[in-house]
Amino acid sequence: MNTIKDNFIEAHFEAKEYLAIFKNILPLMAKEYDLKKFNDLIKFFHEHIIPHFNEEENFFQTLLNDNPKQKILSIIIKIQKEHIEILAMFELFSEKIKTVDNSKGSEIDLIHSCITLIDAILKHADYEDKNLAPLY
Ligand SMILES: [Fe+2]
Ligand SMILES: [Fe+2]
Repeated sequence: MNTIKDNFIEAHFEAKEYLAIFKNILPLMAKEYDLKKFNDLIKFFHEHIIPHFNEEENFFQTLLNDNPKQKILSIIIKIQKEHIEILAMFELFSEKIKTVDNSKGSEIDLIHSCITLIDAILKHADYEDKNLAPLY
């Protein structure tokens, strides 16, 4: 049976792998400007990242109910703040995809937003692996 620890480790591994590959193919996408690929990222976000954030938020509720020490509380607060920031970045990115036109500037802007979003998630996952994993 999968424990919450196994679920989180697996989710991070999958997300890091997927996003690293996605980031590597971005220069190619810039040439072909394939919006379908960007929609794959949106799908991955809806199917994997948002449910994972929700699972973590539920886990935090359990920790918070146990009246955690200040250090743990600070870690939870930082992670929750990042969840809000990443979700806002994602919303912005999703909106940009809907309104993008074929001009050169909008293409570069979209790719830049995509890299910013991926980097934020990768940094967030690294922070959790180092700081949250010992609490599982
Ligand atoms: Fe998280
Ligand atoms: Fe996570």
